[in-house]
Amino acid sequence: MGQQRLLLILILCYFVQIALGGETSSFMRSQWPSTDIPLDNEAFVVPDGHNAPQQVHITQGDYDGKAVIISWVTTAEPGNNEVLYGTEKNIYNLKAQGDVRNYTFFNYKSGYIHHCLVSDLEYNTKYYYKIGQSDSAREFWFQTPPEIDPDASYKFGIIGDLGQTYNSLSTLQHYMQSGGQTVLFVGDLSYADKYAHNDGIRWDTWSRLVEPSVAYQPWIWSAGNHEIEYRPDLGEVSTFKPYLHRHATPYMASKSSSPLWYAVRRASAHIIVLSSYSPFVKYTPQWIWLKNELKKVDREKTPWLIVLMHAPMYNSNDAHYMEGESMRAAFEHWFVKYKVDIIFAGHVHAYERSYRISNINYNITSGNRYPVPDKSAPVYVTVGDGGNQEGLASRFLDPQPEYSAFREASYGHSTLELKNRTHAFYQWNRNDDGKHVPTDFVVFQNQYWGSNTRRRRLKKNHHSWSQSLFASFEDMLV
Ligand SMILES: *[C@@H]1O[C@H](CO)[C@@H](O)[C@H](O)[C@H]1NC(C)=O
Ligand SMILES: *[C@@H]1O[C@H](CO)[C@@H](O)[C@H](O)[C@H]1NC(C)=O
Ligand SMILES: *[C@@H]1O[C@H](CO)[C@@H](O)[C@H](O)[C@H]1NC(C)=O
Ligand SMILES: [Fe+2]
Repeated sequence: MGQQRLLLILILCYFVQIALGGETSSFMRSQWPSTDIPLDNEAFVVPDGHNAPQQVHITQGDYDGKAVIISWVTTAEPGNNEVLYGTEKNIYNLKAQGDVRNYTFFNYKSGYIHHCLVSDLEYNTKYYYKIGQSDSAREFWFQTPPEIDPDASYKFGIIGDLGQTYNSLSTLQHYMQSGGQTVLFVGDLSYADKYAHNDGIRWDTWSRLVEPSVAYQPWIWSAGNHEIEYRPDLGEVSTFKPYLHRHATPYMASKSSSPLWYAVRRASAHIIVLSSYSPFVKYTPQWIWLKNELKKVDREKTPWLIVLMHAPMYNSNDAHYMEGESMRAAFEHWFVKYKVDIIFAGHVHAYERSYRISNINYNITSGNRYPVPDKSAPVYVTVGDGGNQEGLASRFLDPQPEYSAFREASYGHSTLELKNRTHAFYQWNRNDDGKHVPTDFVVFQNQYWGSNTRRRRLKKNHHSWSQSLFASFEDMLV
């Protein structure tokens, strides 16, 4: 009897799996060639005026969203490090003092890179800010997020592997039309390391390219392999040198020992940023930090637990296949235990979304080497399709693995709109002949609040085992 029941369930499993089978979109779109925009293009325009601030970018400056770090570059002289700000246009009654740094990379000399922490801000408030001096001063604004609250709605954009081609520009422009309030950037920014001597000029152009978005809203940074820039042949042996000089992160607010991994909370989300290219195995600082940070996550306050990394743990593209495997071995059991909602990664230059699956029962002595449906597991999203000069990763593994829900090799970006503690609308938007086309859409049910509700409902309705099996497959659709 028991055996028959098991067989029935296995058959059900098989058919449900077929019915839900993943989709490989045959659509492929790369309108423009994978070459960088020329240096003299207006996308990289240098602002007018002596020593005018350029490459202006902001990021969250604290744990809970009441601070920003404002960064900019001056080229003729250091100038001052001051940010003037206030809540009314043209009335800058507040002032913050930052610092300045510069670096060399082989024969490249950077400009003067300013970082200024502006803190004690009010939530849900528009701030105007001004940097630079006299005639060449520039003015921008940003909006602070709502207070940390489980039902605070908020719209994030997700961009990865952006680079600086016309495809990159298209992705950026589409994102800017999306209504996204903050970008979760999953690594590989400028691709300056593709140039002779990792020409830092291409860091400057990239930072001017993205300024129209990132001067007005925070981009939450994570580092990719193109940020490592380890060039012992050029005498450049300190890793992540340009990236770390240019991009400040609020890592100390989450008790991290490195700007490369940290966490922030924003609206109803707890966002954990990891570094695929820093040590993360057991006993390393990143491992210890993550272990502690996960314990600090309070889903009653921030229901949405989101992790960013560069190299995807699940991805079925031929490119970079299994490069995230070592991090999967180190961290997947925690991600399942803590019911992470979504893990965003880049690296692979195509789009892919997984079902909720895990492979935590696998060890090298057990034979369970296939990922299985797991309702506690995150959904894995690879969005390394920003549009950089390396082009698309168009060769997917065939057949499509069962864990893969949707994949397509086109450029684009994603948005994640947190509605309340239980629901979030997620969308991937391809760049289609220069048009922004919503392509992959799913409604996420929160892994903490959604499943609490479901568990109560299941108990009340006395669902049978096979019905709850269906319920768990349904969950794979979220
Ligand atoms: C930084 O700028 C100062 C002042 O111009 C200069 O003296 C110094 O050499 C620069 N440092 C580096 C590392 O480029
Ligand atoms: C390996 O995995 C199997 C199956 O999950 C489990 O029974 C076994 O205890 C594991 N071995 C070790 C050493 O953890
Ligand atoms: C949460 O948002 C979803 C989607 O907009 C909506 O259907 C649901 O009713 C909301 N829940 C609550 C408790 O407001
Ligand atoms: Fe990468």
